[in-house]
Amino acid sequence: MKFDRRKFLQSSFFIGFAIATKKGWANKLPTLAIERRDLFPQGVASGDPTANSVILWTRRPPEQDSVAKKLVVEISTTPEFKKILAGGKAHISADSDWTCRFLTTDLEANREYWYRFVDEHGFASRIGRTITAPDDDSDAPVRFTFVSCQCPNEGALNAYRRMIFEDEARSKDQQLNFVLHLGDFIYEVTWYAEDNPNGNRGRRIRNLYKFPQGRKVSNFHLPVSLEDYRTLYRAYLKDPDLQDARARWPFVGIWDNHEFAWAGYQSQYVAGGVYNAPAQNQKVFANQAWWEFIPAMVQQPGNTSLEHFKAPVVVDTPMEKFNEEGLSEEPNNLLAIHSLKIQRVLRWGKNVDLLLTDNWSFRSPDMSTDDFIIPEYPRVDPQIPFEIMNYGRHYNNDNPPDTIRFNGKDIPNPTKDVHAQTYLGSEQRRWFLEQLGASTARWKIWGHGFGTMELRSDYQNLPGELGSKWPKDVGYAVIDNRFLRDKEIIFDFIRDQKITGFCVVGGDRHAFHAGLASKALPPKKYEPLGVEFIVGSISQQTLFEVLEVTMKKDNPKRVLNLIDQPDGTVIPSMNVTALHGVLSTLKLKETGDMEQARAVRNPDVAPHLSLVDFGGHGYGLVTVTSDQLSTEFVCMPRPLERSNRPDGGPLTYRVVHRTHLWKAGEAPKLEQEILEGDPRYCI
Ligand SMILES: [Fe+2]
Repeated sequence: MKFDRRKFLQSSFFIGFAIATKKGWANKLPTLAIERRDLFPQGVASGDPTANSVILWTRRPPEQDSVAKKLVVEISTTPEFKKILAGGKAHISADSDWTCRFLTTDLEANREYWYRFVDEHGFASRIGRTITAPDDDSDAPVRFTFVSCQCPNEGALNAYRRMIFEDEARSKDQQLNFVLHLGDFIYEVTWYAEDNPNGNRGRRIRNLYKFPQGRKVSNFHLPVSLEDYRTLYRAYLKDPDLQDARARWPFVGIWDNHEFAWAGYQSQYVAGGVYNAPAQNQKVFANQAWWEFIPAMVQQPGNTSLEHFKAPVVVDTPMEKFNEEGLSEEPNNLLAIHSLKIQRVLRWGKNVDLLLTDNWSFRSPDMSTDDFIIPEYPRVDPQIPFEIMNYGRHYNNDNPPDTIRFNGKDIPNPTKDVHAQTYLGSEQRRWFLEQLGASTARWKIWGHGFGTMELRSDYQNLPGELGSKWPKDVGYAVIDNRFLRDKEIIFDFIRDQKITGFCVVGGDRHAFHAGLASKALPPKKYEPLGVEFIVGSISQQTLFEVLEVTMKKDNPKRVLNLIDQPDGTVIPSMNVTALHGVLSTLKLKETGDMEQARAVRNPDVAPHLSLVDFGGHGYGLVTVTSDQLSTEFVCMPRPLERSNRPDGGPLTYRVVHRTHLWKAGEAPKLEQEILEGDPRYCI
């Protein structure tokens, strides 16, 4: 298969933006203006840089008696803003919630620019900084951070403060090119303090906003209207650390689940087992609000003018049938999920193609695993039934079994004739493979909501002392593994096309994982074809924190996740369970010593993983050169409150993983180095 890169990577459809150019603006003096940050309460931002363009963003809502309908954007090559290089004009209105997007063109590659917005009354935004990508034929190194899962309503975004502090201290040629946000930029599900006087699972609720409409379900609230979704972005973007980060670097964003729905699929809204309803209108509202607040080179199919979001008219309609690829062809669903397309490819010189996918709009409905639950072992799935059901009718090369053996019984296979679970959908998967095959960059980096790596443990090796045994013949305990058929098709393609330099960066899991990406693990064929890094959350609760707050101290299974120390601290043994297996965890409990724990590890549990941390927060820092990719995990303690330190507070550890560009047919390898702190229970 041969691909013409040009054919796939053109982006000439962005003709409707307000455009800022040099023509008529170069060398002008800046407008006389007074900086009034209060009139631009969400600050400024930039997004999706190319070698010669970047999108600039602000919001100028009516404040007290001051209404503005026109904005001028000014771009300068110096932070002092002595002279203008380029500029443009745009109208703003309530239609787009007073947000504004400028596509600035004709810029030079791989350099800094400064920009600001001035309204017709002479009031200016703060000055933002942005950076263009290197030229297509440049060998320049590329540096970026990747993040996910932030909730200023229940935590602090100290990670951004740390990121800024460290970048300011670097020499110019070592500074970041951009920030990749992998989603959960907002959390739509909201706990109000008045309903939860003791906070939410140990977190203090700030009550940063209330939904104008909203829907109360159980002890939390969900957005309903466009104004509800906008309310989330407006409140989040008032966070000073997030706002400073957006003003310092261009951001590249995709959404994860919470930009629309806690646990939805396509245009179905699902929340916490207590709410499940068709929500085509809400999907369109969520997409519109994302488009308004996240500056990105994204397309609304059929709308060449992107100055305004054209919301399709939809009626909330149940999705009753799913085609053989798991897609509902119900017309309202199709309209809603196609109202914004965020999958795209961005390039930084010869070194990086960044492939971005939409992991939620096309996903199939979740299968029910009720028949295969092991109540004594919550939060894990028995491997073999899980895999049979995840593959549906495609299991075992399209030969699924009639029954599934479980707890000594043969249970009819409920997914024998059902589509495989998918998150990409067939059309996007095809597009992704075309992009990957066409990429000529040395490193093909997939910005992936949640990553592809499997996490599991060998509960089948548990001795009797923890009470009930793990069922026979179900294989490993799956902690996290998703969408096996998508994974198989993509990894087989990478192997067959001899693609090298494949790297996945993921979020969503509220955990740090570093390792090698492979379709399968032992006893199946383990064949690493890329490297993968999952980043811990910026602020949202980790699984370790949740279990620390909720798991009973006398639960016999507690040791698999948490080991209580005499001084009251808790060892996150869940990392050890996933990395080395249950015998290592039990040895750790007995001796308190990781050396002895590692000595009895089961090498088959996780041959692909070199770091697992279910309790850390922070960000990942990727540095890419022509022959090496390194990813540093900058891990910070639980951000319960905002740090008053200029560096954002202390670090827990800093660990880097490096890989050299491998040749076709070779397996990638990761080297690990601990740069700072103590990650002993994570490696
Ligand atoms: Fe999240």
